[in-house]
Amino acid sequence: MVADGPRGPAQTKRLTLIRPDDWHVHLRDGAILAQVVPDTARRFARAIVMPNLDPPVCRVADALAYRARILAALPAGARFEPLMTLYLTETTQASEVVQAHASGAVRAIKYYPAGATTNAAHAVRDLRRCYPVLAAMERYDLPLLLHGEVTDPSVDVFDREAVFLERHLLPLTQAFPGLRVVLEHITTRASVEFVNAGPSTLAATITAHHLLLDRNALFDGGLRPHHYCLPLLKRADHRAALVAAATSGSPKFFLGTDSAPHPRHAKESSCGCAGIYTAHAALELYAEVFEEAHALDRLEKFASYNGPDFYRLPRNQGHITLVKEPWRVASTISAGGDVLVPLRAGEDVGWRLVE
Ligand code: DOR
Ligand code: ZN
Repeated sequence: MVADGPRGPAQTKRLTLIRPDDWHVHLRDGAILAQVVPDTARRFARAIVMPNLDPPVCRVADALAYRARILAALPAGARFEPLMTLYLTETTQASEVVQAHASGAVRAIKYYPAGATTNAAHAVRDLRRCYPVLAAMERYDLPLLLHGEVTDPSVDVFDREAVFLERHLLPLTQAFPGLRVVLEHITTRASVEFVNAGPSTLAATITAHHLLLDRNALFDGGLRPHHYCLPLLKRADHRAALVAAATSGSPKFFLGTDSAPHPRHAKESSCGCAGIYTAHAALELYAEVFEEAHALDRLEKFASYNGPDFYRLPRNQGHITLVKEPWRVASTISAGGDVLVPLRAGEDVGWRLVE
């Protein structure tokens, strides 16, 4: 990585790193692909694509067809590889794991607790019912990606991630010591500590929004639906623990935006959807976090090395350059006949991508 500090007042700070990947993104389907796929492909060489479509992507054949639709939405000449995932259900068969492994296109299987989030209604009620599939994943070395929250209504919504660690993740890692597991979009100090103390088969992704915002951002002068995501933003001390983990240089933490577009009307609603759109400025937002933590020299590890190393894929060849130059984010983005309100709508982002 090359980071040029300012050599004089007129000198722009530049940051060049190996092209990064996004290890957790929602691209959705249909007309919106034409907006969101280019935003992701402009910055990332590859992305782990979430399967929570309606209906969900449960079979390898569905994933391959979805992959073709994503590739068709790429601008001419763009190079981007969608890494596909399957949506785990209690009826997923071990044979699907064998096919996924053979496909070379399906790279992981995603666990959602039933009812936890967007399109999770068909997901898993009792993870133990999936243990035969997890055994096949361990055998075929196919990673398991976790939405790590319990849905038990008696557990406070801010504690659902921490309770998941003890109730589900600990027994899971003990039952399948060879299974590679990614705890996705972690939000708490407890998760940082759990992952740090865990085996090398356990890693975590961290979003830009959980690194930038704490839960005050949900109620800043009024209810802020565009800051509503799951797992929820947490207290400032948890955010500090996430920043420390991301900038630590540990190979166990890597970039996963969880960019999750919803039309404005679905966010600004009496029962709004969870998800924050960040793909329009993803790497730039992470650069702000790393700069603030005086750790710009660690961004390349987090964004470009740790993910491929964990997934056992080659690191990318090309490079990407950011300059320290503020730009104004649009207040809305048109996407497939709908309107998205991106993170930082109408406000500045401090780093700009050099095309
Ligand atoms: O905020 C979120 N949005 N969290 C999730 O787990 C799902 C995602 C979505 O698909 O909208
Ligand atoms: Zn997600």
